[in-house]
Amino acid sequence: MQYTNPDLKFNSVPPSGEIGWKSPSNIALIKYWGKKGNQIPQNPSLSFSLNKAHTQTTVQYRPAKGNKFSVDFLLNGKTNAAFGEKTTSFFKSLSEVFPFIRQLDFTIHSENTFPHSAGIASSASGMSALALTLCDLERTYFHQINDIDFFQKASFLARLGSGSACRSVYGGYTIWGETQAQNNTTNLYAVPVKGKVHPEFQHFQDTILLVETGAKKVSSRAGHALMNNHPFATERFGQARENLKILLTALQSGDLETFIRITESEALTLHAMMMTSNPSFLLMKPETLQIISKIQEFRMSTGTPVCFTLDAGPNVHMLYPLSAKELVHDFLNQELSKHTGNRGWIEDELGEGPQKITS
Ligand code: PMV
Repeated sequence: MQYTNPDLKFNSVPPSGEIGWKSPSNIALIKYWGKKGNQIPQNPSLSFSLNKAHTQTTVQYRPAKGNKFSVDFLLNGKTNAAFGEKTTSFFKSLSEVFPFIRQLDFTIHSENTFPHSAGIASSASGMSALALTLCDLERTYFHQINDIDFFQKASFLARLGSGSACRSVYGGYTIWGETQAQNNTTNLYAVPVKGKVHPEFQHFQDTILLVETGAKKVSSRAGHALMNNHPFATERFGQARENLKILLTALQSGDLETFIRITESEALTLHAMMMTSNPSFLLMKPETLQIISKIQEFRMSTGTPVCFTLDAGPNVHMLYPLSAKELVHDFLNQELSKHTGNRGWIEDELGEGPQKITS
């Protein structure tokens, strides 16, 4: 796929204005861990978009003062040089897709609805919001583009900024990466899960138990690289492909038992890969293990369909259908709250996807 387009530049004085999008974070059930080439995943992944955890980004643009574009980046109202540099290199990498970037100066205001240090990936929500905003600039000043192509392109570009960000341009359940389980999938962008997801999974809940709120111990880039010479890589990529097929069928048929088995296995395998790579990383904390054991015990003793997943960090995402919310909350208050201390937890759930926030 080729998005390079020399025509997307202004032939007279460029305009001034602002465009903003809010875009959610997402939580992977089938994990993307390992990549090749230009952000191509080694295996397909499947996630759902969150509702509350999102990034709200407004891009103000005006004619560039020099012959280069500039970016001022403000995170939660404060200039953030690191995000400014990251955005500058992202924009630079897209300057053949959107030549108009070079004609503009940008001031970007970005806000996360979750604490920056909560250990929730802000790159997925942040990069998808930026990609949507750039695609919207194209749509505003150059040509109409239908919604399917618009979100496809935004997903493609978000992927270049941060792999899992490509799954955040849609609400609900999303697949990124080629799989025989669904016929329109590709490594280049994410697509929504086709067909009906069973009602059990339509209002799925995600309570994120905060075990640690500091910065990540392993960056995503370093993490994915650990799979390059990993002794179990081939097996792992094959297993993820199979797990995705099984999970997708479970989502469609409402099979909670299979969903739980595959989701927990994916989380533990992600960490097993980190523990057995060279160098190795142990990212779970004692509280992580206490929480996940208690979730499993509670499920076994009460039959409540609750399970967990993990990102590349110690925080625990506790997943359950809406119908189990009351029981799970009693358990959370009585048993789990002691392991999160004053960090607490974030109540989230499956969300409907990004939204434009400027008119
Ligand atoms: O998108 P990245 O490069 O930050 O990688 C995300 C990796 C995991 O969060 C661990 C798994 C996933 O599929 O989101």
